[in-house]
Amino acid sequence: MTEDESALKRTAGESAAELVTDGMAIGLGTGSTAAQAIRALGERVDNGLSVRGIPTSFQSRELAREHGIPLTSLDETTPDLAIDGADQVSGATLVKGGGAAHAREKVVDTAAERLVIVVDPSKTAETLDHPVPVEVLPDARSTVATQVRDLGGDSVLRDAERKDGPVVTDNGNLVLDCDFGKISDSGALAADLSRLPGVVEHGLFVDCTDEIHIGTADGVRVER
Ligand code: 5RP
Repeated sequence: MTEDESALKRTAGESAAELVTDGMAIGLGTGSTAAQAIRALGERVDNGLSVRGIPTSFQSRELAREHGIPLTSLDETTPDLAIDGADQVSGATLVKGGGAAHAREKVVDTAAERLVIVVDPSKTAETLDHPVPVEVLPDARSTVATQVRDLGGDSVLRDAERKDGPVVTDNGNLVLDCDFGKISDSGALAADLSRLPGVVEHGLFVDCTDEIHIGTADGVRVER
């Protein structure tokens, strides 16, 4: 990541962290941009803000701990606000799962009263065309790949060629990155993917975002 990209992500993350008020429970997203929000929130906790975080991954839990943010869970409370990143954004619909955390992210993000997405400008698109990560039970990777092909997609097992094996999610599953080209009807595709046996969760987040904070060289741009 270049210094410029990192600065844009920090601008977006810090802007979202400013929305947090005393006593809130906060969904803590995953990825490098959400990490900037977690760091900024940690600074506010150092300065006396009282919040509890609900992590969406091992990575966000560790980062929250490192920055002194007390943790809770969905069994204890409902998030007032969730702050998360995205791989691509079009209107209020997202592709997520670049960090293989989209299953827990979707649970926490959709449970929140308000979902704020933090991105740099490279993530915005007129029409979604980013490959959709699909978390699958290990035994279902081939059957799901076939069914994805029937839906018009090309899938690859994430990091299949890696020396120490493919990516395994925090839930012990595998990820198929499924390229559908331009996604003209994200709602229909999301429903089709959810119906496939063995699919744990896919990375299409349809119409679920309240605000997008886009870090730009001139400051943050908020889209609602
Ligand atoms: C993790 C995600 C991330 O939020 C998404 O991949 C964006 O990451 P980054 O901010 O590092 O670009 O969905 O599963």
